[in-house]
Amino acid sequence: MSQDHQTLGEFIIEKQNEFKYSTGELSKLINAIRLAGKIVNHEVNKAGLIDIIGGSGTINVQGEKQQKLDILAHEIFVHTLSNREIVCGIASEEEDHFLPINSLDNKNQNKYIVLIDPLDGSSNIDVNVSVGTIFSIYRRISPIGKPVTMDDFLQPGNKQVAAGYIIYGTSTMMVYTTGHGVNGFTLNPAIGTYYLSHPNMEFPPDGNIYSINEGNYTHFPNGVKKYIKYCQMEEGNRPYTSRYIGSLVTDFHRNMIKGGIYIYPKHNQLGTGKLRLLYECNPLAFLAEQAGGIASNGFNRILDIQPTELHQRTPFFCGSKNMVAKAEEFMGAYK
Ligand code: AHG
Ligand code: MN
Ligand code: MN
Repeated sequence: MSQDHQTLGEFIIEKQNEFKYSTGELSKLINAIRLAGKIVNHEVNKAGLIDIIGGSGTINVQGEKQQKLDILAHEIFVHTLSNREIVCGIASEEEDHFLPINSLDNKNQNKYIVLIDPLDGSSNIDVNVSVGTIFSIYRRISPIGKPVTMDDFLQPGNKQVAAGYIIYGTSTMMVYTTGHGVNGFTLNPAIGTYYLSHPNMEFPPDGNIYSINEGNYTHFPNGVKKYIKYCQMEEGNRPYTSRYIGSLVTDFHRNMIKGGIYIYPKHNQLGTGKLRLLYECNPLAFLAEQAGGIASNGFNRILDIQPTELHQRTPFFCGSKNMVAKAEEFMGAYK
């Protein structure tokens, strides 16, 4: 990649100047995420060496106890975000409750809250397959000066101020939106700088990839079963090709670049989907819409769901707009 490319740092400053009255806090927050992502990236890259330097639950050569990587990623993000005077609360997939963050002066002046899935696809770590971090940012709705409340975290996704992910893949990338399109930055690990490599990312309106864990087929709703058969039928640009990595971030990223649909439907035994609305679906739904795609629960827009609990799960249909619209058609027809 040419070093003439704009860096993420330059991009953040340029965008901040476009908002006349911006205080720069959101820019600082994105900067903190950029930094935490680099630290997690470093840890993820070392994962294959764990057996050599000491496995989980054992003492490594530095005398430190090895932690599971998703807990470590959680701690790195919480630590990096709380150390700056921007965030008043964090909710993470790895914690039952949200964490209120006090400002140093204890006056609770910080106005942003962050929700994260610190390590998504973590079962793929052991087999050297791409994983990621997903984040979602809101403005608090409780009054400044008071501690954050549950209502600050239970806002519908359409209130997100920014969202994105970091993908630890063959390259490490940070992809995010502040509601003005989606941009992707690739990390040059040699110098620790992200460069704008994917400006204005967009889902192709059509595609030929479907991503779903078909092992659960018997538990799928009828609409999904019929839609899968439609994907496999010989007609037009079908049969589609099937690609499922099992790291949501990675499946999403590929589909956004190549065109495709990701489905994690309701599982009859769970009575709902597996994916978490606040940590996984809302941020990816915001990105999808900003990139010209659609995200739905099979019937309704993900971003309009009013959450009722932090770890709520939902069915998730996300990707190229004509493909998701077709899947919704099947859901409606075979209720
Ligand atoms: P996490 O690692 O954060 O728990 O998320 C795993 C998620 C998601 O990344 C992936 O798409 C999905 O679970 C895979 O589920 P199945 O193994 O049931 O297909
Ligand atoms: Mn996840
Ligand atoms: Mn996770």
